[in-house]
Amino acid sequence: MAETKLRVLLSEAQIQARIRELAAQIDADYPSGIIYLVAILKGACFFMADLARALQRPARFDFIGISSYGKGKTSSGEVKLTKDLDVSIEGADVLVVEDIVDSGVTLNYLVHVLQQRRPHSVRIAALLDKPTRRLRPVEVSYVGFQIPDEFVVGYGLDFAEDYRNLRDVCILENVPAPK
Ligand code: IMP
Ligand code: MG
Repeated sequence: MAETKLRVLLSEAQIQARIRELAAQIDADYPSGIIYLVAILKGACFFMADLARALQRPARFDFIGISSYGKGKTSSGEVKLTKDLDVSIEGADVLVVEDIVDSGVTLNYLVHVLQQRRPHSVRIAALLDKPTRRLRPVEVSYVGFQIPDEFVVGYGLDFAEDYRNLRDVCILENVPAPK
């Protein structure tokens, strides 16, 4: 078995430059007032922190825990809410902040859950998108980067909880099969 290797796909500078562009777009698109950023734990934590600070308008944020993956690289197909929001989003402009859209199972489920709470609007901002992997439809209003079907880690993204604190997004090569 070959050695596990990390190859930089998106550098820290590329990521930060793109986030400034996304923030400018979001600032321009939304009517005046507060945006409620809802980040999905844990992968979206750095994207949320950087996007929130790049916005020039008032924003509040909260976190939601949702999991569709086991410990390895493959989807368990199950989606469950592991931590709910702390506040009501009724009447609010909600922007879901996610690290990556893969099959779309997670976001498809989450958008349905949030819509039942009668927000004024729900949109999605995802740093990364693997469009070729989609199993469920998801409308992503703000995409940082479309990437090929490779397993990536860093900038919040993990493999079995490792690599989240890398500053770049890297392709993880020769990954051991999950036990
Ligand atoms: P989906 O429900 O298949 O769209 O999966 C979305 C979730 O799977 C993301 O929030 C990530 O946590 C995880 N995921 C999907 N692709 C990758 C990847 O390449 N690296 C790390 N995590 C991933
Ligand atoms: Mg995630």
